[in-house]
Amino acid sequence: MIDTNTTSHGKWSSRFAYILAATGSAVGLGNIWKFPYITGENGGGAFVLVYLLCVLLIGIPIMMAETLLGRRSQKNPIEAMELLTKEANADSNWHYLGWMGVIAGLLILSYYSVIAGWSSAYILKAFSGSFIDADALAIKSIFNDFIASPVKLVFWHTLFMLATMWIVVKGINNGLEKAVQYLMPVLFVLMFLLVAYAMTTGDNYFKGLHFLFSPDFSKLTSNSVLTAMGHAFFTLSLGMGAIMVYGSYLSKDISISKTVFLIAGADTIVALLAGIAIFPIVFANNLHPNSGPGLIFETLPIAFGAMTGGWLMGILFFVMLAIAALTSSISLMEPAVAWLVENRGFSRQKACVWSGGVTWLLGLGTVFSFNVWENFKVFDRNIFQILDYLTANLMLPIGGFCIAIFTGWIMNAQHSEDELALPNSGYYQVWKMLISYVAPAAVFFVFLHVVGVL
Ligand code: PFF
Repeated sequence: MIDTNTTSHGKWSSRFAYILAATGSAVGLGNIWKFPYITGENGGGAFVLVYLLCVLLIGIPIMMAETLLGRRSQKNPIEAMELLTKEANADSNWHYLGWMGVIAGLLILSYYSVIAGWSSAYILKAFSGSFIDADALAIKSIFNDFIASPVKLVFWHTLFMLATMWIVVKGINNGLEKAVQYLMPVLFVLMFLLVAYAMTTGDNYFKGLHFLFSPDFSKLTSNSVLTAMGHAFFTLSLGMGAIMVYGSYLSKDISISKTVFLIAGADTIVALLAGIAIFPIVFANNLHPNSGPGLIFETLPIAFGAMTGGWLMGILFFVMLAIAALTSSISLMEPAVAWLVENRGFSRQKACVWSGGVTWLLGLGTVFSFNVWENFKVFDRNIFQILDYLTANLMLPIGGFCIAIFTGWIMNAQHSEDELALPNSGYYQVWKMLISYVAPAAVFFVFLHVVGVL
């Protein structure tokens, strides 16, 4: 048993605080910005079905595994993997898994902060009344003008990164817990109101539902299956240590399985609500579902501009989106900061300045890929797309695969059973089968398919 008495590692103040923070990490731009646009790019229903299957069969078991690894070690991901590797008498190379997670987190944060900056800028646009009575064309040109300006994008990216650093500096109890407390209820209410608006688009509402939920498998390529799987990891914050580090602040008497189901359930509902709200507006305005990362910025403002009370709703929506992004971005930075503080003797401030500074610099690549460097492409992808593909489609699934192998095959089964403390051994056997066979095999086959072996 790992000795945790000597650690200066933090603790959540309650189970509720943990659920809020982990849900805050999971629910973010991934659900409201990314899920709709990648669904649009990958043909709708069949993609959504694969994504849901991945959440259920791969995401949830791996989320349980990551949480239990964190809680057992009570350490940051790098140290956690070192300790658990020793405890399992395993090859010491396993600790690189912790490293990959920290790096993936900062790479994701670099572009996440840029997009979160867009959401923040849109709060002001909503406030200034820019969307009132604007048609689809006007809304599109507001967006295009905005992303064409590197100065504006850098400004908002900087602001968002500073906000992230500020909360992370304050540590888990003061910063993270308070920030997430008020978000979830407001988020759900706003999403339902947007869905209610989408229902007023008549036939287009059903067109939207049809697009999302009736699978046409001819539209599914091996790359879209990879994207759906990668998104299951991204949206649940898996494969890089965010959930591991949050699990490490979790006290021993809390049920991992119950909290994981709650978090994954809330995450999935928010994504589906976003889809149900957005696609009817897309069809009602003759827009294209596959218009890429700008999709929500080109659609939802039309609704805000047209509906009664839309001015206020628009402001609230983008405030909420920025806060949702913030509660995720802090979890992207936390693994690196926890490691710098606990293993490299940095103060929390210094650790935040370093991680935030390096990530901010990297984020400039994403900023420029929407304007001055938009024609700079490698393998037909700009810098933003490369970072997104590398992290969401490769690093997170590979990290998740290794976590599944480690917990399913390397770690002592008694240890994982103790940590999960499921109500009966039948449930444990189901989890064990999913984590040992189903999840790793699924990731492996998807990769084989993509590289063309299958
Ligand atoms: N889950 C977040 C979202 O859906 O926006 C993004 C994210 C956070 C990914 C933390 C990975 C992570 F570790």
